[in-house]
Amino acid sequence: MTALTFPLADAARRVSPEERAAILADPGFGQHFTDFMAHTRWTSESGWAEGELIPFGPLSLSPAAAVLHYAQEIFEGMKAFRHADGSVWTFRPEKNAERLQRSARRLALPELSTEDFLASVKALVAADEPWVPAVDGDEASLYLRPFMFASEEFLGVRAAQTVDYYVIASPAGNYFPRGVQPLVVWITDTFARAGAGGTGAAKCGGNYASSLLGKREAAQHGADEVLFLDSESHTAIDELSGMNVFAVTKDGRVETPVLSGSILEGVTRDSILRLAADRGYQVSEERLIAAELLERVASGEIVEMFACGTAAVITPIGEFRSADGTWTVRDGGSGELTLSLREELTGIQYGRVEDRYGWLT
Ligand code: COI
Repeated sequence: MTALTFPLADAARRVSPEERAAILADPGFGQHFTDFMAHTRWTSESGWAEGELIPFGPLSLSPAAAVLHYAQEIFEGMKAFRHADGSVWTFRPEKNAERLQRSARRLALPELSTEDFLASVKALVAADEPWVPAVDGDEASLYLRPFMFASEEFLGVRAAQTVDYYVIASPAGNYFPRGVQPLVVWITDTFARAGAGGTGAAKCGGNYASSLLGKREAAQHGADEVLFLDSESHTAIDELSGMNVFAVTKDGRVETPVLSGSILEGVTRDSILRLAADRGYQVSEERLIAAELLERVASGEIVEMFACGTAAVITPIGEFRSADGTWTVRDGGSGELTLSLREELTGIQYGRVEDRYGWLT
């Protein structure tokens, strides 16, 4: 099979240079979109069609499209970064391609090859290059959102025979409105994000929909984020609404929940494990019992905690709240290792630190 290409349609830019400059001056997160989007369609008869780059805009979809009824949908999150010399880079994009393939298998969607995934992203970033923010202290980037959904007009419950794949892009500043300030995290024992044998390890919209009430509960308790426990025993920590979680101990251990099948295998999570191990920290992926973790926070054994993800990068956690009380992580401020890992990771992404792992494309 020859690889797909995504040629640019003969279309003018949607947004004027003046309007674009105003957006790039304060992009926020996920609020503004670029000029173009990449698209291809799969049918069970013909496989993936030739790709195209078309103006960003509304989709035309049957109200009976299967995704609207049965949520057969997956997505990815990744970023393009501008370096000081003006060049534009993505971070470990093949990991996103592979995860999209795993998500596709779990949701009975067709797989898009790594080559075709990379071609779609590269074509969109090239066409939308003026949208990649200039290097500045705020670490803005162009957030890329590849996604795939069941577009077949059919209400029977089975895997769709027509599926659409798009990549859209959105200039992004900090994910959290308060920037890199320590988060307050609510631990919910009311809701679980994903169940054993379910879709927790897949990046599908349903996981995020099921996190929303937990997030609302967190907000009602004055928290920025929600931490979910495993759905079986309600004792082990899983992840936040859209981020993985890490703990750092006083004696130099870096711990994160093991990939239990209900946790998303984050690209940032994987990168942090590598960076921390290479600094000589003992890294461990294990089942972390919430009650024990909070006791270790209270005793001072755990000195730092942080959330991580493509959107969240690495953001400190300063406090946990639950129905049983409040726990401050050390002094509630930002941990040194947390900030230094963030500095190293973003340093690689923005070309300030040598890419010794070959993570940039
Ligand atoms: C990402 O980090 O890219 C995600 O998809 C998570 C979402 C909270 C924005």
